[in-house]
Amino acid sequence: MEQSRWLRRTGPARLEYGADYNPEQWPRAVWDDDVRAMRTAGVTIVTLGVFSWALLEPAEGQYDFGWLDDAMDLLHRNGIAVDLATATASPPPWLATGHPEILPVDADGVTLGPGGRQHWRPTSPVFRTHALRLTRALAERYRDHPALVAWHVSNELGCHNVHDYSDDAAAAFRSWLRTRYETLDALNAAWGTAFWSQHISDWAQILPPRRAASFPNPTQQLDFRRFSSDALKEHLRAERSVLREVTPDVPVTTNFMVMGDTRGMNYADWAAEVDFVSNDHYVQPGPGRDELSFSANLTGGLAGGRPWFLMEHSTSAVNWQPVNRAKRPGELARDSLTHVAYGADAVCFFQWRQSAAGAEKYHSGMIPHAGEDSALFRAVTDLGRRLGDLATLAGTPRTPARAAILFDWESWWATEADSHPSSRLRYRQEALDWYTAFLNLGVRVDVLPVAAALDGYALVVAPILHMLPGALATRLTGFVAAGGHLVTTYFSGIVDENDHVWLGGYPGPLRDLLGLRIEEFGPLLDDEAVTLDNGATGTLWTDRIDVTAPDVEVLARYTSGDQAGRPAVTWRRGASYVSTRLGPAGLAPVLGDLLARAGVTSELPPGLRGRVELAVRGGYRFLINRTASPVELDDGTELPGTGVVIVAAR
Ligand code: GLA
Ligand code: GLA
Repeated sequence: MEQSRWLRRTGPARLEYGADYNPEQWPRAVWDDDVRAMRTAGVTIVTLGVFSWALLEPAEGQYDFGWLDDAMDLLHRNGIAVDLATATASPPPWLATGHPEILPVDADGVTLGPGGRQHWRPTSPVFRTHALRLTRALAERYRDHPALVAWHVSNELGCHNVHDYSDDAAAAFRSWLRTRYETLDALNAAWGTAFWSQHISDWAQILPPRRAASFPNPTQQLDFRRFSSDALKEHLRAERSVLREVTPDVPVTTNFMVMGDTRGMNYADWAAEVDFVSNDHYVQPGPGRDELSFSANLTGGLAGGRPWFLMEHSTSAVNWQPVNRAKRPGELARDSLTHVAYGADAVCFFQWRQSAAGAEKYHSGMIPHAGEDSALFRAVTDLGRRLGDLATLAGTPRTPARAAILFDWESWWATEADSHPSSRLRYRQEALDWYTAFLNLGVRVDVLPVAAALDGYALVVAPILHMLPGALATRLTGFVAAGGHLVTTYFSGIVDENDHVWLGGYPGPLRDLLGLRIEEFGPLLDDEAVTLDNGATGTLWTDRIDVTAPDVEVLARYTSGDQAGRPAVTWRRGASYVSTRLGPAGLAPVLGDLLARAGVTSELPPGLRGRVELAVRGGYRFLINRTASPVELDDGTELPGTGVVIVAAR
C-alpha cells in the first residue's frame, strides 16, 4: 500500500476540520461571511469544486476559472486549506445533451437521463476524454496554488452509476474477461456454461447480465460485479495519472462509501490506489451507531491502521432517507469523535452552508438555514475547539486489538446472489451482529479486509465467508495451526472464486479444520425460530451437522426444529462454527466462551463493559458512551450520556 502521504502543507500537525464548500451556490458577498464563520468554527480545510463542472467549463473547451481563483485566494488568505475536486462527478448539460452516448443504461435497457448527477458510463471513452481534459486544466491552473493540499478525484465514485449495462460496458466487459481468462475454454469452465445451453463460442456473444427471462449465469453476475468495481477503479487511476504527472507533490484521494448497504465498489481492492483513504459516512436509523463504529473501524482497516480522512458526514439530518431525523444533542460530537477514535485525522461534513435550493436543501450543513445564531452552529464551533485541542493525536495509528472480524466484498456479493437456499441472508448484518456482541462485552475488535495479515490476532471471526478460494482456506487453516482461534458461521466455505461449490459435503475446505460435515442446509422461514440448549434462539438458518472428529466439542445443541439434538455451535482445537443466526444477544455467551478460550479479555472495568466503547490510538484511550445516560468512570469522573472522553495514557 502506498498511503504514506498526507496533505501538502507545512506547519504543526493537527486534526483537520471542515466541509464540502459550494460557494457557487451563493452570491459573492456571502463568501466573506463564509470565511469569517469558518474561522469562528475552527475550520482548517474545505473540499471545493465537487459539482462545479458546468460553471468551470460552460461550453466545450471554454473555461471560466475566475470565480474559482477568487475562492481559492479568499480561502488561502484566511488560512483555510483546499482539497480540490477534479469536478468530474456530474457532467454538464452541454456534454450530456451533445454526447448522449455517455449516459448509463440500466439492466432493463433504460438509458438514464441527465438532470440528477453522476449520469455517466464508467467505461465511456467520450466521457473519459472530457473528464481528463478538465482534470488536466485544473491541475495546470492550481498546481502551485498555496491553498491546494490534496486532490479529490470525482466524488463517491459509483454512488449511482456503478452498474452500467450499455454497449460501452459490454465491450469493456469483454476485454476485462479476455484479460482474466485468456481463452474461451477457460471462461466457459469458470462460468459453468454447460448449464442451460450457455456455451459461448465467440467473445462477441458475451453481454453484461442484462434483465433475463430467468436467473442470469451466477459467475457472469459475479464477474460483472468485479468488472464494474474495476471499471471505476480504472477511472480513478486515469484521473490520478494526470494529477501525478502535473502535480507529483500533491496527494490524491477519492471519497469511499464504507457505509450501510453500499457494496458495489471493492474498497479493499481500491485502498492501495489512493495516497490516503477517505470515507463518507451517514448514520441510518435502523442500523444505528454501532454501524457507524463498524464502518469507521473497517475504514481504519482499509487504511492499514494508519490515519484516514473523514470526507463527509452530517451535522444533523440528511435528505435522502424516507424520514430524516435531526441528530439529538451530543450526537454530532459523538459521531465525529467515534470516527477519530478509529483513525480519522480529518473530520469533514457535507456541507458548509445548507443549500436554499436544489435536491439537498433539507440536508443539514455546518451553517443551517437558521444561520449562525443556532444550536447547531454552536455545536459545530464546540467540536472545532475540541478537535483543535486534540492536535497531538494527528498521525497516531490505531493500536491493534487482539480480536478481528474479517470483511470480504466478494463474499458479500456471492452470499446475497439470487437462486440460493435462502434470499434472506445479509452478509454485512451478520458481521455487524458480531461487532455489537463484542461492544456489548466491552472487548475491542478490529474490522479488517479479508486479505489483511492476521499476525498478532488471537481470535478472528469470519462471518458468512461464503466464497473461500483454496489459498484463503490454506491461510486460515495455517492461522489456526499457528495457535490462532478462528470462528466462522453458516454458509461459509461453500464456493470457490468462480462460485463453484466445493464438493464432498459442506463446508468443503473447512471440514477437516472444524471436524464436521454438512449434507444439507436447513434455512428457516421468516416466522420460524429454533431453540438451543444454552437458552439462545436461532433464526434464518440451521445446518444438519455431523461431527467427524472425536475431539469436537459441542458448545450448543439445537433443542427444537429439524436439527433437534444436533450440534449448533462447535469448537475443535481453535476452530469454531456457528450454524445459525444468533443475533447480538445470542452471540454474547458464545463469544464470551470463545474469547476466554482464546485468552482475549476486556480492557474496560466490569462496570463499563457494554455501556462504554473503547478504542485506542497510541497513548490515547477513547471512551465512548453508547447510551444516553451518564456513566461513572473508574477515576470517579462522569462520562455524560452520548459523550466521549479521550484519556492520555498515564
Ligand atoms: C453524498 C455526496 C454529497 C451529498 C451527500 C448527502 O455523500 O457525496 O454530495 O449528496 O451524499 O448526504
Ligand atoms: C423446471 C425446469 C427445470 C428446472 C426445475 C427446477 O422444472 O424444467 O429445468 O429448472 O424447474 O425446479
